Amino acid sequence: MPETYRKLVATRLSTDFREAAEIVEEEFPELKPHEVLIRNRYAAVNATDVNISGGRYQPGAKPPIDLGAEAAGVVVETGSAVKHLREGDAVLTSTLGGGYREYNVVRASNAIRVPEATPEALSIMVSGLTASIALDEVGEMSSGETVLVTAAAGGTGQYAVQLAKRAGNHVIGTCSSAEKVELLEDLGCDHPINYAEDDVADVLSERYPSGINLIYEGVGGSLFDVCVDALARYGRLLSIGYVSEYREGAERVTQERIYTSLLPKSASVRGFFLPHYAEHFTEHMNKLMRLQESGAIQVSIDDHVFEGIEQVADAVEYLHSGKSRGKVVVRFPE
Ligand SMILES: NC(=O)c1ccc[n+]([C@@H]2O[C@H](COP(=O)([O-])OP(=O)(O)OC[C@H]3O[C@@H](n4cnc5c(N)ncnc54)[C@H](OP(=O)(O)O)[C@@H]3O)[C@@H](O)[C@H]2O)c1
Repeated sequence: MPETYRKLVATRLSTDFREAAEIVEEEFPELKPHEVLIRNRYAAVNATDVNISGGRYQPGAKPPIDLGAEAAGVVVETGSAVKHLREGDAVLTSTLGGGYREYNVVRASNAIRVPEATPEALSIMVSGLTASIALDEVGEMSSGETVLVTAAAGGTGQYAVQLAKRAGNHVIGTCSSAEKVELLEDLGCDHPINYAEDDVADVLSERYPSGINLIYEGVGGSLFDVCVDALARYGRLLSIGYVSEYREGAERVTQERIYTSLLPKSASVRGFFLPHYAEHFTEHMNKLMRLQESGAIQVSIDDHVFEGIEQVADAVEYLHSGKSRGKVVVRFPE
């Protein structure tokens, strides 16, 4: 074991992740009886990393802020009271600040044992859970409806597409390139729309004149407006994020209040923030693990390899370039 390890910390607040982040070396803490020490193998990269570095994720957050969240790793030491985990066990963790670091200490009860510490297992923790819980518990997803997913070829979008399809819906997905259209077709998306070529509002009004029943929306900006307009009678729009406005801040818009769009259609916009739904984690985690293990759901991991703490900022910028396909991860060398 080395004497120190490295982690990434926002030493100043900025939604420019690279500007905020600094590599810090730290000594290993003394393990408490119920804790485990984990060597991280993969860290998940999320759109919201820039909100965390900008101090917007948790109101009142002040630097230094440990960066990253979910990780897949291997237990290297257990506290004296830990019974259900052993050295060498592969685990997933999801704690704020627990991702972009070479080692992590968590309460053993917060480490979920998995067969292997893979990027595919890791992507369930936030990307998969968000799609599954939002669609089922908040979106009241049923079958035989038309479901629209934005950023459909992204980390969480790919789950939403497949879960909506498995539930027996007609699924539309927006994305920005021919390669992403290909991925969406592989995932069973009925109608990928490449918005770099086609106008989403036009396509929706021409092909779906009765509107969209359920929308999983994480892009924000003008695409959010298009989605609100496209809602069917009784339609539900899940607002899970607004990645297009994370770095520069949300645009101030002046238009009629949203009830003029919603009320005539008895439609609704429902915000969703994963940490508020902790009571559903275990059930949906188990479901997603089963679906992935059986091959019923495929998880696509972006093929760009980002290695080590030094390349985390590259990975975050890559995700925000809009070019990534599937889940972006950072790998920590063994
Ligand atoms: N509420 C929650 O608890 C929760 C949890 C997880 C994720 N989310 C949200 O889900 C959304 C997706 O997150 P993710 O981590 O899975 O990311 P991601 O989808 O893997 O990557 C972001 C994708 O967004 C699309 N995008 C559209 N306009 C963009 C712009 N101006 N800048 C950057 N990207 C743009 C890009 O795909 P295309 O351009 O091809 O569409 C890009 O690939 C985010 O809004 C995130 O905050 C919310």
